[in-house]
Amino acid sequence: MNVTLRQLQVFEAAARHLSYTNAAKELYLSQPGVSIQIKQLEESIGLSLFEQVGKKMHLTTAGREMFVYSKSIGHLLEEADGVIEELKGVRSGRLAISIATTASHFTTRLLAAFAQRYEGVTISLDITNRESLHQQLAENQPDLVIMGQPSKGMDVESEAFMLNPLVMIAPTNHPLAKKKSLALDKFQNEHFVVRECGSGTRDAIERFFKYHEICFQTGIEMTSNEAIKQAVEAGLGLGIVSLHTLELELETERIALLDVVGFPIERHWFIVQRSGKRLSPVAQAFRQFVLTEAKRFVRLPIDSN
Ligand code: PGA
Repeated sequence: MNVTLRQLQVFEAAARHLSYTNAAKELYLSQPGVSIQIKQLEESIGLSLFEQVGKKMHLTTAGREMFVYSKSIGHLLEEADGVIEELKGVRSGRLAISIATTASHFTTRLLAAFAQRYEGVTISLDITNRESLHQQLAENQPDLVIMGQPSKGMDVESEAFMLNPLVMIAPTNHPLAKKKSLALDKFQNEHFVVRECGSGTRDAIERFFKYHEICFQTGIEMTSNEAIKQAVEAGLGLGIVSLHTLELELETERIALLDVVGFPIERHWFIVQRSGKRLSPVAQAFRQFVLTEAKRFVRLPIDSN
């Protein structure tokens, strides 16, 4: 059957209205224009599509059949159009992501893979601590946030996608480095090198010690996990950090994980957005990417799941 989409579109309108004049109005065509398209369609299928009974126009049996097909072809085209628009959105959109300092260790690799898959997407990335992520969410700034579990009372939607174990670290030559099942109260007189107030890691550690009714003594405060690891390695104190920050140190055996009862402190990474936020196609694609693929961007020499 040698018919064109235009002929089907004109026929569908004429069949719906049972009027060439109304179809012409709807499609911004002249009435003879409609009539020519339908005549050509009738010629190519070899049957009449309309018949005139008195003053009224009716569909013939062939017309009724063609009406069904031309409607579903129209719907399929609309559907294809929607899918293509969605793809265009993902290919060319902008994405504003904010992530917790600690999540940056795996998130940069994840973002690189996402940017490679969706080449035309422009990404802006802000790396900051938990407190300021809460602030950004309250002000509805980023499309999506990767962080620890948001505080209760925040007006957000969040979904966990991966474990975030917090471990105790020491220099490799530390006397406790080779000991097994160390009791937590052994550490009440220790000074820990810690993250700043406002950090999710710091908050989780303090809650953990409080829950176990053990005194937690903070030593030097630092805003960077890298600096904490270096300080611990240099013997400035013990540290508690996310296992996800330790890829290199564990591989090169520059830092020891202490075997402490109750550790690791179990946390999760969450992908978070403000409640009711309408995500753009790019942001939706990124959210899905994080939920399904984040785990493969953590490269630890030990199992963290
Ligand atoms: P942090 O983030 O870098 O602020 O410690 C981790 C978290 O949100 O738990």
